[in-house]
Amino acid sequence: MSVASLIAADLLIAVLAAAGWLGGGAAAAARRRRLALGLAAGALLGTLARAVTVTVLARAGWWFAAEKVLVAGPLSLAAVAVAGPRLVRRPGDIRSAAVPLLFAGYAESAALLVTVLHGYPASAGAGLLAVAAVVGATAVSWRLLDARPSPTVSRTAVAVAAAALVTGAGLVATPAGAPAVPHALAAQDGRAVGEPTRRVTLTAGTATVRAAGRDVAAWAFNGQVPGPELSATVGDVLEVRLRNRDIARGVTLHWHGYDVPNDQDGVPGVTQAAVLPGQEFVYRFRADQAGTYWYHTHSVSDVGVRMGLYGVLVVRPAPAVGVDVTVPVHTLAGRPLPEARTEPVAAGTPVRLRLINTDSTTHRYALAGTAFQVAAIDGTDLRGPTPLVETAVLIPAGGRYDLVFTAPGTPVALQVDGRVVYATGPTSVATGGWPVLDPLRYGAAAPAPWSRVDRKFTLVLDRGLDLHGLLPRYAHTVNGAADPDIPPQLVRSGDVVTFTIVNRSLVVHPWHLHGHHVLVLSRDGRPATGSPLWLDSFDVRPGEVWRVAFRADNPGMWANHCHNLAHAEAGMVLHLMYQ
Ligand code: C2O
Ligand code: CU
Repeated sequence: MSVASLIAADLLIAVLAAAGWLGGGAAAAARRRRLALGLAAGALLGTLARAVTVTVLARAGWWFAAEKVLVAGPLSLAAVAVAGPRLVRRPGDIRSAAVPLLFAGYAESAALLVTVLHGYPASAGAGLLAVAAVVGATAVSWRLLDARPSPTVSRTAVAVAAAALVTGAGLVATPAGAPAVPHALAAQDGRAVGEPTRRVTLTAGTATVRAAGRDVAAWAFNGQVPGPELSATVGDVLEVRLRNRDIARGVTLHWHGYDVPNDQDGVPGVTQAAVLPGQEFVYRFRADQAGTYWYHTHSVSDVGVRMGLYGVLVVRPAPAVGVDVTVPVHTLAGRPLPEARTEPVAAGTPVRLRLINTDSTTHRYALAGTAFQVAAIDGTDLRGPTPLVETAVLIPAGGRYDLVFTAPGTPVALQVDGRVVYATGPTSVATGGWPVLDPLRYGAAAPAPWSRVDRKFTLVLDRGLDLHGLLPRYAHTVNGAADPDIPPQLVRSGDVVTFTIVNRSLVVHPWHLHGHHVLVLSRDGRPATGSPLWLDSFDVRPGEVWRVAFRADNPGMWANHCHNLAHAEAGMVLHLMYQ
């Protein structure tokens, strides 16, 4: 059983057990003896079964089970200790079992809430609040069921509940110790990158564009979605003038995967102010990384990118040979881009398809009709890529794969999620059943470029209640906190840094660090054995644990976030900061 299914199964059992105890308590209060005993017996089994699921989760990694062991464990023990004997002894009047069964129900529910609302890391504050809730709810039930608890018992209950409540609330309300990111703006340092050799102006504005045969409202660069394709040759100096005509919420340009100097990174509130209607901002950087990249607005990025403020950036080592096609995939107003395009290619021509996922979720790509190689991922060439046939690739949000092949005499077609987006002639092939390439096992290995590690960080991805803003929200969290309260990761120039990224939630988180490419070390404890994989965007699926490393060689303050941009807006953003 995978860790993800274990997480889901454990959650389900916990819900059923809580419901069983509560239902049993209610049935007992109503003197429905059979029903009460049946529900309670089921709940007891569920509660005991969690000992197994939680143990297995803890063995997969403490991050997956911490609060379950430390909070749910003791509460479940209490539940079983209080309610269990009532079941075994089979009371004459079933009503006398109501309060113990309800107590067990409250205990299981409170533990469940700690998992769902708080998660990792386990905290004393959340544990105490759970205890307060259980004691309080039990005391109220006792009263309502008119069981006349002795005054000493009720006084003790009130005292315990109040103490736990006050201490727990105090602990939970205290913000995390580390400082939030100082959202100060770095001034443009006008670093000398030389005279621009390519100049472009991108004007952001509302527009009506064509998507899959229908006119839709969009936000566009120069009136088109995607924006103009920027292409350069290594060594070029790019100067991009960004103007905002009428995007009220502001615009910036972030060069996704391009490790530009920090002041060109385009993150509003961190490296510059958002460019408001009527304003402009000039980006200038040297194109010294070859490969496939893209640009997009980083101001209200979820809406901005979804509405169309993105485009392709391709840097070639030399002028393109053969056929060199970019395929930026996007969903605009629910309609898929780009339109299918068919163009015959003479047999023997080298072809490079640059696949770019500009959406917030993973897409599945399949190239039918030819053997091919994955020449590069996220702009970096792979070492020793071998030919693949009838193999699909999954590209995470923000990620890029370059597929290369020599055109055969027969038609070739590229499908995205089963839809043809590029073809050299008419074909129809069912690719849904093809196996998926594991990039960690593809190509030829090379020794690691470092032998030491200077800093290690762990990022546990989850959901949780965020009470630190104006309104409470159910945030996407890192280590139990949401932006802007996630402590920044401090590094020194030259450090070799590792991230352990753990996904204990039930959704995929495509991880993206700005300004650096990370080398994948392992996934779920199994080392990467293929070509060195230098990524800027990678899917951490539910239950997965990724270890990646990078050299801190680009000083500044860098966003480090989930590229499901809705998750990012909902809290899943932190920052890497050079000391
Ligand atoms: Cu492509 Cu911070 O994003
Ligand atoms: Cu996410």
